[in-house]
Amino acid sequence: MNKTIENGFSFIIFGGTGDLTNRKIIPAFFQLYKRKILPNNFKIIIIGRREYTQKDYYEFLYNALSKFASINNKDDFLNFAKYIIYYKMDYLNNALYPKLKQFILDIEAQYYIAKNRIYYLASSQEHFEIIIQNLKNNHFIEDATISRLMIEKPFGKNLENAKALNELLVDTFKEENIYRVDHYLGKEMLQNILVIRFSNIIFESLWNNQFIDHIQITSSETIGIENRGKLYDSTGAIRDMLQNHMLQLLSLVAMEKPKDLTPDSIKDEKTKVLQNIKHYSIEEICENVVLGQYGSKGNIKAYREEDNVNPNSMTETFVAMRLEIDNPRWRGVNFYFRTGKRMAKKCTEIVVQFKEVQNNLYKDFNILPNSLIIKIQPMEGIIMQFNTKKPRTINTIVPVQMDFCQNCEIGFNSPEAYERLLFDVLRGDSTLFTRWDEVEISWKLIDKIIDSCKNKSLTFPNYLPGENGPKEADMLLARFNHKWHNEEDNYENI
Ligand SMILES: NC(=O)c1ccc[n+]([C@@H]2O[C@H](COP(=O)([O-])OP(=O)(O)OC[C@H]3O[C@@H](n4cnc5c(N)ncnc54)[C@H](OP(=O)(O)O)[C@@H]3O)[C@@H](O)[C@H]2O)c1
Repeated sequence: MNKTIENGFSFIIFGGTGDLTNRKIIPAFFQLYKRKILPNNFKIIIIGRREYTQKDYYEFLYNALSKFASINNKDDFLNFAKYIIYYKMDYLNNALYPKLKQFILDIEAQYYIAKNRIYYLASSQEHFEIIIQNLKNNHFIEDATISRLMIEKPFGKNLENAKALNELLVDTFKEENIYRVDHYLGKEMLQNILVIRFSNIIFESLWNNQFIDHIQITSSETIGIENRGKLYDSTGAIRDMLQNHMLQLLSLVAMEKPKDLTPDSIKDEKTKVLQNIKHYSIEEICENVVLGQYGSKGNIKAYREEDNVNPNSMTETFVAMRLEIDNPRWRGVNFYFRTGKRMAKKCTEIVVQFKEVQNNLYKDFNILPNSLIIKIQPMEGIIMQFNTKKPRTINTIVPVQMDFCQNCEIGFNSPEAYERLLFDVLRGDSTLFTRWDEVEISWKLIDKIIDSCKNKSLTFPNYLPGENGPKEADMLLARFNHKWHNEEDNYENI
């Protein structure tokens, strides 16, 4: 039996009435269905505890899809809905699992579906253990070579907790069948980073400390924590963003060329980047990490005033950091990270800042170094900044940008990250999912940062909604004569 989907599959979602399932998973399946790349015999089994009949569930599903996907005609919806079954169950009740297993077996027999099962944990983290334990104890994994598990981030709360979770997972599923989701990896431009780097000699040959001065990775949001107060207050920006998304971006930007494009070769190289992050002492970490928390402005509430947040909370909603990679390619290059809530712009981007020209003929002119900006969201594209002579002047040099806007292309509509991720799981390709060793090294680093920053004396709140974090984040870069790239930085129109 292989992991292809021609013989059908069952996709079993624990937490099937939740926000993630309705906003991302089901709309992504709907898209895959409309693109006609799903087989005729599959079923999505939605496990929820609500007293829904199948009809009630379809109403709920229709509302969710109307909001988060586009239903162009009702027949599309009705045809798609036939593949989805609502199953009421309290998944914390051990006694109910044998009945669920029989239900899945009956569905497989009735619809001639191979025992090709994918279990998706879209439940709260505290429930992961009990669900996995029950899948194991009740022998849900009949064929370990093809039974797959998708598990949502965050993967654990710290190294110790992540290790315990992982032990349970590998005791139940094979490592190659565990798909640890970091949905950033499903984004088009992220997948494009390797192509940009390794298929263009103009970048490949310059991608090292001889030509690159520093690299900035920013992921900023304008929204606050919305209704995630309780969860966010025990998580914070370091665990929520740095441990997973930001370090994944770093490893793609900084990795060596993999020996081929297989998932393991790529992950081997990504892991080496994380292993080579320079070790800092506690004092060095404190000097290189800036934490922030937003205050109030106008009718925007301060973080501490949000629902379910401790009014004296010291949880960070912003983090900026500098780190170095101790290997021949990157020694001496600063990598800066910045992520936060309630910032000026929604933007995820990587800025590769090149060095100045040696023995520059134009040293007396005010010229900027070249930079390459990889825009990941909401705009997707690449911007190359270089210098040119301003027309109709004797010798005025101005920086200009050449840009490729991927999601501006007519007719181009980037697939949602989850569409790609689900399709990859269905065909058994784990390239865009994190392997345990990547997670383990990330947690080691993050635990050390969190421990080192615990005793830092901080005055929160220290930035206002609409600002790009506290001023200390600017000072972190100023120490090295660098400056954050902000979208509002203007370039001459010539
Ligand atoms: N939402 C996102 O965008 C997002 C993004 C990345 C990662 N995640 C992660 O994904 C997971 C799910 O997040 P979410 O936002 O979808 O959470 P959510 O909206 O709170 O959904 C939780 C789901 O679990 C169900 N549930 C809770 N206890 C149950 C029980 N005893 N038996 C059966 N069902 C039960 C809930 O059912 P009811 O509907 O009956 O309450 C609901 O369907 C979390 O681990 C989160 O950290 C979420």
